[in-house]
Amino acid sequence: MKRLLTGLQPTGVITLGNYIGAIKQMVEYQNDYESYIFVADLHSLTVLNDENNIKENTKSLIALYLACGIDPKKNTIFIQSDNEYHTNLAWILECHTYFGELSRMHQFKEKSKKNTNFSAGLFTYPVLMAADILLYDTDLVPVGIDQKQHVEIARDIAIRFNKKYGETFTVPDCLITKSGTKIMDLVTPDKKMSKSAENKRGVIYLLDSESDIRKKIMSATTDSDMLVKYDKENKPGISNLISIYSSLKNVSIEEVEEEFKNSNYGNFKRAVADIVVEELTKIQEKYNYYINSDCIDKILDENIDKVRKIAKDKYDLVKERISIGRSKKL
Ligand code: TYM
Repeated sequence: MKRLLTGLQPTGVITLGNYIGAIKQMVEYQNDYESYIFVADLHSLTVLNDENNIKENTKSLIALYLACGIDPKKNTIFIQSDNEYHTNLAWILECHTYFGELSRMHQFKEKSKKNTNFSAGLFTYPVLMAADILLYDTDLVPVGIDQKQHVEIARDIAIRFNKKYGETFTVPDCLITKSGTKIMDLVTPDKKMSKSAENKRGVIYLLDSESDIRKKIMSATTDSDMLVKYDKENKPGISNLISIYSSLKNVSIEEVEEEFKNSNYGNFKRAVADIVVEELTKIQEKYNYYINSDCIDKILDENIDKVRKIAKDKYDLVKERISIGRSKKL
């Protein structure tokens, strides 16, 4: 059975973008793949700020995974920092990654522009992500399109390593939603919807109240031409709402255009708000159950030995391949 793996950072309540880009895909494919989903808490150290309580956010994120339909019987759920082989392998991979390659990463360029006093971890972030993926012989990585470049560098590193030392890593593929969706900010639809946006009115968080969700969607930026038509370039706001509706209803962009061809923007927005509220209310009810139960610790305890064993075997193989550590013959 092929393997699927993805991770999300515990940097606050996740957004509708995270849900559509990553979690929903994991839920859709969990019957067909051996699936691993983890909390990328080490990655969240690259954007440390005082508001972040990583431990609390980690528990909350796992409760959200479960609430969104990630079945713990079909998915191996774990915390990245519980498995030290991620950072062990990352160092070795860093020594097989070029400075120039990392300098070209869009996320690094964007984030380092915002804060010139950035950490070395922000720069090497994609290599830790490559280690996350390559440790588990992952075939497919469901991510939003913003992370495609990072999965591609993981592929490049795997191919390069295999060529130099012999078959060691499975070369992963990126799994992007059918419509290639990147959910955009509701106020500034030329920017992706991001947990860390300054203006929270443009971002739908999975635990937002119904009235907040409705307010945010009803006041989303649109245009003056009153046509529900997908045109990312000229109608980014409406296109974004179409993407949200199409993803949550599991219908194509064309079907959304057809359904709303005679609607005004007010009616269309109300329909988008209805579907978002319906989906998130279900998630929130389940979240309240999971966050107050003791099942999260049980799941993590059950899984940690399994993931450490897989990762240790791969790490030992890598050490053999590059000829470091104690000789097996000793
Ligand atoms: P994070 O937490 O920033 O994002 C988690 C997932 O959500 C997707 N995403 C979006 N998708 C659509 N529209 C958006 N506006 C949007 N915003 C975020 C991201 O593409 C991502 O899939 N680096 C990863 C975490 C990670 C990881 C990994 C993922 C660490 N190691 C190994 C896969 C495999 C990240 O961006 O987290």
